Amino acid sequence: MLVLGIETSCDETGIALYDTQRGLLSHTLYSQIAMHREYGGVVPELASRDHIRRALPLITQALAAAGCELRQVDAIAYTQGPGLAGALLVGASIGAAMSFALNIPALGIHHLEGHLLSPLLSTPAPVFPFIALLVSGGHTQLMQVDAVGHYRLLGETVDDAAGEAFDKTAKLLGLGYPGGAALSQLARQGRPGQFKLPRPMLNSGDLNFSFSGLKTAVLTLLNKQENSEQICADIALAFQDAVVEVLTEKSLAALTQSGLKQLVVAGGVGANAQLRRTLSEKAAAQGATAFYPELEFCTDNGAMIAFAGAMRLQAMPESARQPARSFNVHARWNLEMLETPEAD
Ligand code: KG4
Ligand code: ZN
Repeated sequence: MLVLGIETSCDETGIALYDTQRGLLSHTLYSQIAMHREYGGVVPELASRDHIRRALPLITQALAAAGCELRQVDAIAYTQGPGLAGALLVGASIGAAMSFALNIPALGIHHLEGHLLSPLLSTPAPVFPFIALLVSGGHTQLMQVDAVGHYRLLGETVDDAAGEAFDKTAKLLGLGYPGGAALSQLARQGRPGQFKLPRPMLNSGDLNFSFSGLKTAVLTLLNKQENSEQICADIALAFQDAVVEVLTEKSLAALTQSGLKQLVVAGGVGANAQLRRTLSEKAAAQGATAFYPELEFCTDNGAMIAFAGAMRLQAMPESARQPARSFNVHARWNLEMLETPEAD
């Protein structure tokens, strides 16, 4: 089955072709970051308009790169939520229109399910069940993943997401938007142990997180220091140390509590090198293995949507795979509320 994936939930237009026999055939991406940078964050209306401009040419490119024709596509998977309503509507309407015109099934996919399953695109891939640490710009969650559609929330942030904390702290340090990658780059020049920031909720006894206090701690620190590049790098490192330690300790606790031995890390913050290194080392020390998506599939992309769509479509009875007659999007959508694909 050849599935065309369409991702337009935020500021990246991602398209991919995934074949259930041959794997990922192609994927194309256009990032709007340069456009939003001027405004210091994503401007929803500009994001929607840009998705309209990019989506069809990217679909043409993805088909050409895969050596496929549109009529060979068997099904469409598009991100149905959560995300920016207008941006989601672009992908959903294109997906539904193509489904109707080609008379092939269309399926709305939960963006976070895409992230959760994205490490399965890599080799070696984890096998169910596993623990997933989902760390993106909008979410920080620990989930137990038993199978496609079987997700149990173990803990989550009570305020800012880890990626949001990276972005806000980067802004305080005078770095551009989005700041996660820039902050981790700056932290490479930081002197270890120069500053120590709090580890929020490290000993809370549950698997929840809190990151909003960290940016205040960074601000307080910045106000007390002369503002040199070296000091900023030291603070970036201290911030990254704090986030990485909390994410690592809670992930290890989730492994211990569940008795599972595989940890999957997904979402944009999963691109962070220090987080990857620390998680891998500490997981190995307790006999567990950490799995990561390829770097290009950590942040938003169409491949994870095509893949999640393929997994769900395969698990569905033939009669349930229907062309779209209408469509809607969910700007907010709880992952645990997802139906399991085998339901008929
Ligand atoms: O998953 P994603 O692309 O989009 C959402 O669904 O939110 O994640 C984007 C987030 C941003 O907050 C960005 O700053 C962060 O991931 N990020 C990083 C790194 N690369 C991206 N955070 C820390 N270190 C990185 N290397
Ligand atoms: Zn995402």
